[in-house]
Amino acid sequence: MADAFIALVTGASSGIGEATARRLAREPGARLVLVARREQRLKALADELGSATVVALDLTQPDSPQRLLNHVQSEHGQLHMLVNNAGASWRSTFEEGGWANVAQHMRLNFEAPVRLTEALLPLLRETARQQADKTRPISIVNVASTSARVSRPNAGGYSASKYAFAGWSDALYAEERPHGVHVGLVLPGFVSTDGFPATEIRARAATRWMLSTPEKVAEAIVDAGPGGKAERYVPRPYWLAAAARLLAPAVVRRATGGGLFTTSTPGRT
Ligand SMILES: NC(=O)c1ccc[n+]([C@@H]2O[C@H](COP(=O)([O-])OP(=O)(O)OC[C@H]3O[C@@H](n4cnc5c(N)ncnc54)[C@H](OP(=O)(O)O)[C@@H]3O)[C@@H](O)[C@H]2O)c1
Repeated sequence: MADAFIALVTGASSGIGEATARRLAREPGARLVLVARREQRLKALADELGSATVVALDLTQPDSPQRLLNHVQSEHGQLHMLVNNAGASWRSTFEEGGWANVAQHMRLNFEAPVRLTEALLPLLRETARQQADKTRPISIVNVASTSARVSRPNAGGYSASKYAFAGWSDALYAEERPHGVHVGLVLPGFVSTDGFPATEIRARAATRWMLSTPEKVAEAIVDAGPGGKAERYVPRPYWLAAAARLLAPAVVRRATGGGLFTTSTPGRT
């Protein structure tokens, strides 16, 4: 029988997290912990996958990290992979949304995964210490966004939270290497999901090619977790946008400020 592979996935009730849970369920010995607020959706997925448990909670609540640690400890006593995927975007200019909008993004997209990681890191390190099979690293995968490299109008709060998440993730990568915990960063571009419908991009033939799928991001999450990659853009050529932001910032400013990928309506992407 394969060794157990315990993975906790946040935001598993839809989109990228759901696709990641389906993908990880195919790993040998997989036993998943599925986390989000919509319990019925999590339970339906757990029933379908088998060998998965569900914790329905709001990750921004102060007691959520401890509740998840208690669950993982009592159910499994070890943890091989943490996928910090849950996140959302509430589109707004700064003039309209102000600090309240920025803070809302920071709470869910930055503070919540950082606090969850803080709670689970000792267990991840302990699992790494005890693990006999070193071929599949113990891992944390942080799902940021290409918005962690390039900001767009109406998404300043979202970008701020993802820039912060990516910056923190890079430091954690270096800090945890000596402790046997691999930290991978995934930066998706446009992926049509419940929370990020990408309506404008889907509507235009000229931009539709830019869309990726939750399944492709799930593969990147496996690459950046057990696969041991430090960083994955999805689709891969999106790293060019990040490079262009550094090498040709005026071009990127013209593109993002000139209407490309922007919407005049506040709300979701
Ligand atoms: N789709 C894209 O274009 C795109 C691009 C770049 C990066 N990303 C990132 O990918 C991640 C997943 O997004 P997605 O596209 O898959 O969107 P999605 O389908 O809307 O999924 C978001 C997930 O986060 C969960 N969630 C939201 N708020 C939560 C809270 N307070 N507590 C617990 N869970 C919460 C949602 O579940 P409940 O509502 O049931 O709680 C849902 O499962 C996000 O971090 C997003 O920023 C997405």
